[in-house]
Amino acid sequence: MKPVSEERSTPEQPPPWTGPVATSERAVPLDLPGFLTRERHRIHLVGVAGSGMSGIAALLIELGHTVSGSDKVSTMETDRLRRLGLRFHERHRPEEAGTADLVVFSSAIKGDNPILVSARKYGKPIVRRAEALAAIMRSKRGIVIAGMHGKTTTSAMTAHVLREGGLHPCHYVGAEIPILGMNAHWDSRGEYFVAEGDESDGTITLFRPEHTLILNIEEEHLDFYADLDAIEKVFAQLITQTAGTVFYNLDDKNAARVCRSLPRGISYGFADEADYRAIDIRLTGFASMFRVDHRGQDLGEAVLNVPGQHNVHNALGVIAVASELGIAFEKIAKSLAKFEHARRRFEIKYDSPRFLLVDDYGHHPTEIRATLKAARSVGRKRVLTMFQPHRYSRTKALRKEFGCAFDDADRLVVTDVYGSHEAPIPGVTGQIIADEIVGHGHRGVSYEPRLEWVHRTVGNMLESGDLVLSLGAGNIHEQLSALAADLVTAEKLKEIVGEGGEVRLYEPLSKHTTLRVGGPAQFWVEPRTEKAFAELIRFCRDENLPLFVMGRGSNLLVRDGGVRGVVVHPSGGDFDKIEINGAEITAGVGAKLKEVAYAGKAAGIGGMEWMEGIPGAVGGGLRMNAGAMGAQTFENVLRVRYLDANGEAHTKSRDELEVHYRNFPLLEKNFAVSAVFRGQPAPLEEIVRKLEASQEKRRTSQPAAKSAGCIFKNPDSCPAGKLVDELGLKNSRVGKARVSEVHGNFIVNDGGATAAEMLELIEKIKATALAKRGIELETEVQIVGEPG
Ligand code: EPU
Repeated sequence: MKPVSEERSTPEQPPPWTGPVATSERAVPLDLPGFLTRERHRIHLVGVAGSGMSGIAALLIELGHTVSGSDKVSTMETDRLRRLGLRFHERHRPEEAGTADLVVFSSAIKGDNPILVSARKYGKPIVRRAEALAAIMRSKRGIVIAGMHGKTTTSAMTAHVLREGGLHPCHYVGAEIPILGMNAHWDSRGEYFVAEGDESDGTITLFRPEHTLILNIEEEHLDFYADLDAIEKVFAQLITQTAGTVFYNLDDKNAARVCRSLPRGISYGFADEADYRAIDIRLTGFASMFRVDHRGQDLGEAVLNVPGQHNVHNALGVIAVASELGIAFEKIAKSLAKFEHARRRFEIKYDSPRFLLVDDYGHHPTEIRATLKAARSVGRKRVLTMFQPHRYSRTKALRKEFGCAFDDADRLVVTDVYGSHEAPIPGVTGQIIADEIVGHGHRGVSYEPRLEWVHRTVGNMLESGDLVLSLGAGNIHEQLSALAADLVTAEKLKEIVGEGGEVRLYEPLSKHTTLRVGGPAQFWVEPRTEKAFAELIRFCRDENLPLFVMGRGSNLLVRDGGVRGVVVHPSGGDFDKIEINGAEITAGVGAKLKEVAYAGKAAGIGGMEWMEGIPGAVGGGLRMNAGAMGAQTFENVLRVRYLDANGEAHTKSRDELEVHYRNFPLLEKNFAVSAVFRGQPAPLEEIVRKLEASQEKRRTSQPAAKSAGCIFKNPDSCPAGKLVDELGLKNSRVGKARVSEVHGNFIVNDGGATAAEMLELIEKIKATALAKRGIELETEVQIVGEPG
């Protein structure tokens, strides 16, 4: 290949700057490449935490400059750079850059940034990130990787293959790449500099590389470009400024059109006429295999450990470049097989036989389609996707294309737009993307404007065999990480309860309370055996996880933020069993109280008919010594079996137990498993008559609507229902929460009520009772969970 031509070592004037800083105010050093690569200076970077800027900082530090930087956020990246010598400031104060000989700024920085304002005032040289990069590259033989999709992966792959090929390349890529160690690196030994070229703001035309690799050309960044024509012009200019070879993807119709007639072009792709051609392509799970044909000559087989057909294209581009630089195919193939993905490019966050969680940076419809295709080819049962649209301008411009990009997702949750540094555009939200996808005919789409709830929504959909994919260039990956962290615990819980048991993440407790109100349980666990329950208790103790036991949720008000930790719902198996032995009935805590009454009837045992009027289960009945028709649970209890805080089982008889009105303190720190009830033999007609009376009482005096039973304990002076009635509060409401017109001690959910509304209504009733009657009402209903 040709060496860098002499005339290209003289920097040319960059194109007129249309950004926030006026060109006339800048005094750029005459020989910027020399200034940056052969001299030592003090350089300040404004917006140093950005992925591109941190790379420049790393290069400048390695080049021996004294580098300082400012940003409103510190990141892992700035922490790492500090260890390398960066002086970092979390504010943009002019004095931090006071002694700098040069200021480099990110395109995310506005023109009124105090450091830029001051630098302009004092005539300090100011350059854009891309200008600095282009200048640094000018001292090496540049290889620019350009295109709309796949730049980071391909530039990392190129740098890796050249490095393995012994060429000691310098590199600059747009993300942290584990296999390369850093996102940018200066190596004085090598001749080449591999850089990801950013086309988003037109600065790609600053490059004068020896070679250019064009992956694809498509409508993107329509905040900056008028249309595809404008984009192609920029690429055409880059091609003109390329001294050596232009490598291009022949299968991309725009790249092919722009490059096909170039005398210095080398093509790659699947098409027959490609110079470097992939044949016999096999895509399996996370790997791809293909043979490479170079103008009729079989070079051999390549194995790629990154998934998807799009990566076969990327790898072919790398093979073409590396081969032309003289690296033997065997060496290239060996390096490619070792290549690991860039962070946030199909990055596996969690992998178990039951679930696979993958994060990807894809944010353009084409990338999304390719990534979803790759996700589908992994071979799991379903693909669940969380997607965060990136930038208002892109969301607006490509809304239609987004509409049909998600066909390969079985379920999809769309969040609101991540603005990056853009100002919101009125009417442009994640909702318009969700609507577009629904309009396209997708049946599994929902919109979740609260980003911090996305992992809950998706987590609750999870079924064994699912692949979960987070997509977007903003911070959606944090939601996937949150899900991955909870999955670790969920899988341990699943191991404890075994095949028969059930574990669900973020189960909405509104589904499990009779009031139909309440946020999710972080971990919803249904053990089926006493042994599993005991193990759960020990696990929560050891892991410091809160544990809350919930029965039928009939006397429970869960706040809208849900319950943190493990919510155990003992049901099925041991817990639903009812056994009769003479006049004794043994019932598990999951059995309904009314089933105990009917078991009594079947065995000719009376005295428990009152239980017919209680909607809860044995566990709840014990916990609060529930009552009806003037009777209460412990009047019928002989023995209680329970697990203590260490999961040890105990049985205590009635006379050993302390019991109060609507309260059984033992179960504050222990967990009931079963109870033995006692009745008396009675004639069937009498039992039936009492059961009917109990039913009739409930039917005539209590509402049929969704409720949590009685809200307040009966004060000594007057039943709470009567009191509320006398205070004239029946039918009073907060939102969809309303005091029943049937019974004053019931608050009903008229459909879609929130816990906050329920609580506000409770407070209002309490305040009125105190103000008007001097009675302090105490809630009987158990109130748990976090505010919403
Ligand atoms: N009353 C009114 N207006 C009303 C409601 C009640 O004047 O709006 C009067 C009734 O006429 C009656 C008295 O208040 O004279 C007591 O009412 P009720 O007989 O309905 O009994 P309660 O004390 O309100 C208790 C239990 C219920 C159980 C019933 C039926 C408590 C706090 N409540 O209600 O239990 O179903 O007896 O036996 O002890 C529950 O615990 O969740 C529950 C629903």
